[in-house]
Amino acid sequence: MTTERSSSPAETEAIGARLAADLRPGDLVLVGGELGTGKTTLIRGACRQLGVIGPVVSPTFTIGRRYRGRVPVSHLDLYRLDSLAGEDPGLLDDYLTPDAVAFVEWPAAAEPLLGERGIARWVELRHAGGDRREVSVRDPSGGEG
Ligand SMILES: Nc1ncnc2c1ncn2[C@@H]1O[C@H](COP(=O)(O)OP(=O)(O)OP(=O)(O)O)[C@@H](O)[C@H]1O
Ligand SMILES: [Mg+2]
Repeated sequence: MTTERSSSPAETEAIGARLAADLRPGDLVLVGGELGTGKTTLIRGACRQLGVIGPVVSPTFTIGRRYRGRVPVSHLDLYRLDSLAGEDPGLLDDYLTPDAVAFVEWPAAAEPLLGERGIARWVELRHAGGDRREVSVRDPSGGEG
């Protein structure tokens, strides 16, 4: 696991961009952390690195968005999902496709299902006072994250 410090949204975007440089189609990245820690900001930086040009904002009326970059990119936000109980088991299928790199904010509710898919990186953001953030990146396969 590596932990980096950020003191601005731009720095958090840069961390996301560096992380994305190592990703391949089919990779799944979980992005956890409290409200306003910069999950969407980090994913925006990752999306830019992957060639996404338009706005990168959290999905509001759906659980996810798909962007067109050099590869397809999925951006899910499971904030409103308490658990997968009672949900369609195929809920995430449109987003977690083998051709796409996928980022998931608020992954907790879906962790069992996401775990089955194989997780490429696990990112955790923490408030560290003012505009400062701590960003930990783990590669569950054991490689350098
Ligand atoms: N170092 C920093 N890194 C990221 N965002 C920062 C930083 N400092 C200040 N900010 C601000 O914090 C906010 C983070 O918003 P963002 O939507 O990225 O967080 P989030 O974790 O996705 O929030 P939510 O929990 O609502 O999904 C933005 O307004 C951003 O400008
Ligand atoms: Mg967000």
